[in-house]
Amino acid sequence: MAGQKIQGVKGTRDVLPLETYVKDADPWVRVGHFQLVEETARELFPLYGYREARTPILERTALFARGIGEVTDIVGKEMYTFEDSDGTQVSMRPENTASLVRAYVQHAVQAAEPDTKWWYCGPMFRRERQQRGRYRQFTQIGIEAFGSPGPRIDAEQIELLHRWLSALGIPFAMHVNTLGDATCRPAFRAALQEYLRAHLAELCEECKRRVETNPIRVLDCKNPGCQKVAAGAPQMEKFLCDPCRAHFGELLQGLARLSVPFVVDPKLVRGLDYYTRTTYEAIATEGLGAQSTVAGGGRYDGLVRELGGPDVPGVGFASGVERLALLVAAAGRERAVRPVVFFAPLGPAEEARADALAQELRAAGIAADVSFRRSNPGNQLKRADALGARFALVLGEQELSTGKAKLKELKTGATHEVSLSQLAAEVRKLASAT
Ligand code: HAM
Repeated sequence: MAGQKIQGVKGTRDVLPLETYVKDADPWVRVGHFQLVEETARELFPLYGYREARTPILERTALFARGIGEVTDIVGKEMYTFEDSDGTQVSMRPENTASLVRAYVQHAVQAAEPDTKWWYCGPMFRRERQQRGRYRQFTQIGIEAFGSPGPRIDAEQIELLHRWLSALGIPFAMHVNTLGDATCRPAFRAALQEYLRAHLAELCEECKRRVETNPIRVLDCKNPGCQKVAAGAPQMEKFLCDPCRAHFGELLQGLARLSVPFVVDPKLVRGLDYYTRTTYEAIATEGLGAQSTVAGGGRYDGLVRELGGPDVPGVGFASGVERLALLVAAAGRERAVRPVVFFAPLGPAEEARADALAQELRAAGIAADVSFRRSNPGNQLKRADALGARFALVLGEQELSTGKAKLKELKTGATHEVSLSQLAAEVRKLASAT
């Protein structure tokens, strides 16, 4: 008896190679879109001195509670947490900054190098309400730099992000802000709280709570009533202490020197508690709807110490790869894996020859696939087409006896006579000629 079908978990998605068999989203994002986003980062980030760091998906829950903040949405209601059989409370990482700081402290990295630049790519987990661009398992690519108090490195990171998104052809605007530090933010927070208490009735239920727990988050609530209140709220800018004001001023000058376009956005407050001074976000200007922030980050100068390490400053960002992949798909760009030649042999002797020819092409670095099914040439060509092959080569008795065959270009229908004994060289010539 056939078993029952089992569906994937809500908020998770399959990313598969071809769209022909997955039709439940628009535009469907294929693995080639993800690969383009990832490979562009893999090539670009090392040019800025970033090395890849890989940390586990499972961490102790206390790391995120202390690192991200108990009162944030992420820690308060979105983490996948469970008790391991030995009684340890563990969580699936909702982000990676806290994990990298944990690794930095655990391995005393500051003793080995004064400045550290790490990048990462991997799945994160947050139990959020699913919508386009927001999932419960999603992928982040990010960078973290430890040891430099800035603001030159802040500007360098924002320039890196700008270069990466531009290389991907993504329409976006770079927003920057400062949140001050432990010296000046408390006075701002108190003034904001006082103002918000006076406007309590106009706020959404969530923000009514936030006034006491995390008033700064009210500033970026999407609710129209809260936005109206936020428009008249005190601004951090007026409360900045001299060092924070100087840091921000130099950051803006640095960005101008590096020719990075940006907008100063006083409402950019971020959803995690660890930020100090610089915050930044890249926001897509079209194509994403409500979930339009494709990357966000900033400085977290107190976090390493908060997590038991030395007093080492840090700064970084993370991007949402699913969102970037949607935009890359909309722009019609992808890293495609397609056979250059698809062999369609018509009988047993031809199959053996096709297998050997495919082996020869692959050894020459040319992607080749062979049909393992016997069927007529028409069906074979359909299969070559579904795989997105560039050329199809039907091998019958005649081709074997003459040593000549027709390479059919599937897009145009044009055919080219080729000699089987020189196939790799002839395919290379034809592929580069058009
Ligand atoms: P974040 O703003 O929480 O920051 O996430 C960064 C990016 O991850 C977001 O801008 C968004 O593109 C993507 N993202 C977040 N949640 C989801 C979701 N549920 N589904 C799809 N994409 C999502 C951080 O995580 C910080 N660790 C960034 C950072 C690094 N700050 C300093 N260093």
